[in-house]
Amino acid sequence: MFKVHENLRDSFFSVGGGGVFHGDALQILKELPDKIVQCCVTSPPYWKLKDYGVKGQIGLESTPEEYTEKLVSVFHEVRRVLKDDGTLWINLGDTYCRGWAHCGVKTKELVGIPWRVAFALQRDGWYLRSDVIWHKPDAMPEGVNDRPTRAHEYIFLMTKGKNYYYNADAIREPHKPESIKRMAYKYKGYRKIKSLSERPHYRNPEHMCHPLGRNKRSVWTIPKSGSRGNHSATFPSEIPEICIKAGSKAGDIILDPFAGSGTTLQSTQQLGRIPMGIELNKKYVKKLIIPTILNAT
Ligand SMILES: C[S@@+](CC[C@H](N)C(=O)[O-])C[C@H]1O[C@@H](n2cnc3c(N)ncnc32)[C@H](O)[C@@H]1O
Repeated sequence: MFKVHENLRDSFFSVGGGGVFHGDALQILKELPDKIVQCCVTSPPYWKLKDYGVKGQIGLESTPEEYTEKLVSVFHEVRRVLKDDGTLWINLGDTYCRGWAHCGVKTKELVGIPWRVAFALQRDGWYLRSDVIWHKPDAMPEGVNDRPTRAHEYIFLMTKGKNYYYNADAIREPHKPESIKRMAYKYKGYRKIKSLSERPHYRNPEHMCHPLGRNKRSVWTIPKSGSRGNHSATFPSEIPEICIKAGSKAGDIILDPFAGSGTTLQSTQQLGRIPMGIELNKKYVKKLIIPTILNAT
């Protein structure tokens, strides 16, 4: 459990081993102590795609710059509350300009929101360590015939510094049968190489393929989740599961400052970490997030 500053007592709901704050992400984060969170996994509201019907919501700004600036302020505070070896995993989707004034691009153009945010976070001091394509095999058909149907979003892995906690073994993928065959074949070839002594790991073909599987790739094929309760912008639980397994150990605090229906907090609880959520919409806090964490306990 973590200590809650008295300024935040009225907005805090203790649940599972952690809890959720009702309020604006930036305001709540400002009251949290430095370096208490090991891993932040979140999906901020996308630009101009949804109205959550609450005052102070992010996502309805008139320009991409204004939207990006707001997210940078929130994630600046996230960096402060993150431990030095912590990680941030941020899921972002894009928007096509539908003729709004101040889009920054022409009507029909893709705005490029995820990369605008990623570059702005880099400028603010974050290390951009990986972009991940979340490939949605069940993407909705679109009524377009002059461009491909969008079937992906981005997840960015960002860190405070060059060195950070990352458990590659916790998220390895199965090797492809061809890779194992190729390695066995290569092994035969390497036996003939004189310099073998300089590469001792090549002596044993089993060591050429990691016994726990290959390193996680940067394209994740995961079907979309349906809506949870009355929240329609949720991500599937497989996404936070991967990020939490790679980015933390049992007992660590995992933060989602845009908790929505509580998907990240549910996975956090199931994986034996401590959930810490923030959500502006009180209905989501009471009707979705708290029951979701309780069900996962
Ligand atoms: C894309 S949804 C998150 C969905 C979540 N990943 C899930 O699977 O349920 C973004 C959430 O951010 C919330 N939100 C919007 N502006 C906010 C703000 N200023 N502070 C905190 N939460 C905010 C919205 O109410 C919405 O529930």
